[in-house]
Amino acid sequence: MKHQAVEGFSKLSKEGKIEWVVNEYLNGDEKAIDIFKQYWNDDADLQKLHDEFSENTISNFYMPFGLAPNFLINDELYTIPMAVEESSVVAAASKAAKFWLTRGGFKTTVLSTTKLGHVHFMFEGDFEQLKNAFEQKIKNQLIEDTNDITKNMRSRNGGILNLELIDKTSDLENYYQIKGSFETVDSMGANFINSCLEQFAKTLKNEIELDNNFTQEDKNSLQIVMCILSNYTPDCIVRAEVSCPVEQLANGNVSAEEFVEKFSRAVRIAEIEPYRATTHNKGIMNGIDSVVIATGNDFRAVEACAHTYATKDGSYSSLTHCEVKDGIFRFWIDLPTALGTIGGLTALHPLVKLALVILGKPSAKELMGFVAVAGLAQNFAALSSLVTTGIQKGHMKMHLMNILNQLEATEEEKQYFTTFFKDKTVTHHNVIEEFCRHRGVESVEELKK
Ligand code: MEV
Repeated sequence: MKHQAVEGFSKLSKEGKIEWVVNEYLNGDEKAIDIFKQYWNDDADLQKLHDEFSENTISNFYMPFGLAPNFLINDELYTIPMAVEESSVVAAASKAAKFWLTRGGFKTTVLSTTKLGHVHFMFEGDFEQLKNAFEQKIKNQLIEDTNDITKNMRSRNGGILNLELIDKTSDLENYYQIKGSFETVDSMGANFINSCLEQFAKTLKNEIELDNNFTQEDKNSLQIVMCILSNYTPDCIVRAEVSCPVEQLANGNVSAEEFVEKFSRAVRIAEIEPYRATTHNKGIMNGIDSVVIATGNDFRAVEACAHTYATKDGSYSSLTHCEVKDGIFRFWIDLPTALGTIGGLTALHPLVKLALVILGKPSAKELMGFVAVAGLAQNFAALSSLVTTGIQKGHMKMHLMNILNQLEATEEEKQYFTTFFKDKTVTHHNVIEEFCRHRGVESVEELKK
């Protein structure tokens, strides 16, 4: 069926929007209305809060909120909240936390916290003249004209750190930038940076207009293209690492030496092979995104930044690295990431607020550390499984549970099938077949009757 464009959709009530989508896309299915409404919260104020996070909201989309305990980080014990829908992620993080708990735990160091933004503009006049004007007058004026915007941030030891005029004309004709470096302390800083940049653009235009050293033609050629922060923050970066003597790394039936050799090789492969690096980094982001979401931060920004950083040496590569030196195994991640623990969702979402309390009300720098630790832990767990037992063993247990839940198995049946499949291969087909046999029916359709 072809669909009609809709006018004034945003102005419809929530019920009106549901009615529209059910009639237009869901064949008028009354059950669909119930499902959308089933996820509404009884507490009208809480529901309103969630409705207003975004636009055209018709329901809530639940995400499991879990806990990974036993993380020893910089000699303190933490429980890390993780919001993630993928099975095994929280279990893997918890397993890695427990493993490193008795081997010195995780150490984190924030290497720097500078964030960046640009005014992208076109200019056809003389660059040297623009540069002189920028250094002698415009730069100071940019700072002065943003004094009101930066006042609060300056009182928290943040603000504008540096301003540079960048000549990009070798890449694109007439293209220049004002590159701003910022310290935004405990806020992610997107609004702050973008407000400064938009003021920079106005000031730049004004200053050129007033400067009689520029011809009218030069003045007319100045065009602001856009003002926006960069989500690539290579100078807002944290390191998380673990280390221990090689002999402490025996893993199940695998000797410590063999484990370290296999593990190091797996990291090396991710460093040189983009196909593997993508999956390797995806696993790291399983841990990172879960904490970023649970703490109300922007996981798309964190993802974009991490993947750009992964290409910094010219080819997409691993975010984690390892080495063995003087009998000590060291495994680490350098993660550029811009996070906030004040402002945005951190002050609004009740679960986010609790997540931050569980983490001890961290500063943005501390949160950078927790996020990097979750990524490193996830990668350690994934690689440990991959180079020893393989990951399917653990995954299949969860897969089995998902299928049994779909089949609405009872608790006794779940126990029976967990034992039954302990030494057998879990496939969708095998589980269904065995389930039907156990219930004494011919097919899944019969189960539904
Ligand atoms: C699955 O979500 C993540 C892994 O594929 C990561 C990896 O291969 O390193 C297990």
